[in-house]
Amino acid sequence: MKRYLIANWKMQLNESESASLASDIVKRIAPQVADSDRLVTVLCPSHLSIGEVADAVRGTSVGLGGQDVFWEDKGAFTGEISPVTLKELGCNYCIVGHSERRQHLGETDEMVRRKAGALLRHGINPIVCVGETKEERDAGRRDAVVIGQVRAALDGLRPVGNQAIIVAYEPVWVIGTGQAVEPNDAAEVHSLIRETLLEMLPADIVERQCFVIYGGSVDSGNLAGFLEVPVIEGALIGGASLKADEFARMAEVALDLK
Ligand code: PGA
Repeated sequence: MKRYLIANWKMQLNESESASLASDIVKRIAPQVADSDRLVTVLCPSHLSIGEVADAVRGTSVGLGGQDVFWEDKGAFTGEISPVTLKELGCNYCIVGHSERRQHLGETDEMVRRKAGALLRHGINPIVCVGETKEERDAGRRDAVVIGQVRAALDGLRPVGNQAIIVAYEPVWVIGTGQAVEPNDAAEVHSLIRETLLEMLPADIVERQCFVIYGGSVDSGNLAGFLEVPVIEGALIGGASLKADEFARMAEVALDLK
């Protein structure tokens, strides 16, 4: 079974810090990951550091991703990042719809859908983030919110060729808190996301090309508990991905699992 470990460095590092963290991680994990067909690792630095990180991961088994993208290829869109440029810089993955963008930048489900569509057009695997807030969970709306976000973000889209679509379930209220949800709690939502994908896409595509991963306070201590659950196919990791040793430990945990 293939699993993903995706590092979301957010806006935490400058260019030289990103470059040195990327080379440290590559040194520690690239040979082991290269020997495995079961683990995919991806580093998502902030946009301005992508070039440096691309240099560090080029030719290795460690992948590269963006943290956001615009839905047009080119034009008068001040400040935006084109999927063409991401591809040119070597990104094979890109996060879209992270809750921090939904919260601070007013990103809507429709914007997330357009962004995911642009990535698929350019052969970049989208990592689509979904998840409920504490208020939504307390109001008993966890499932409805998550299913609604998945439906809206992927409406009319499907992987091109052998591309992957990754859905990251991130309960918004545990991100960055050090307190993840219980793996069985996440598993319930993962199963629902899978069922939703099966309603939207042919079963063989969901089986082979769609992956549902968990994010929210994952670290080397709790990762195994998530990855042991078959419907949890990897993790999107923020804080704990900012230290090479810790990220390497997580890769080890993932590689040690059957
Ligand atoms: P965290 O962040 O691991 O620091 O909780 C995860 C994310 O926001 O993707």
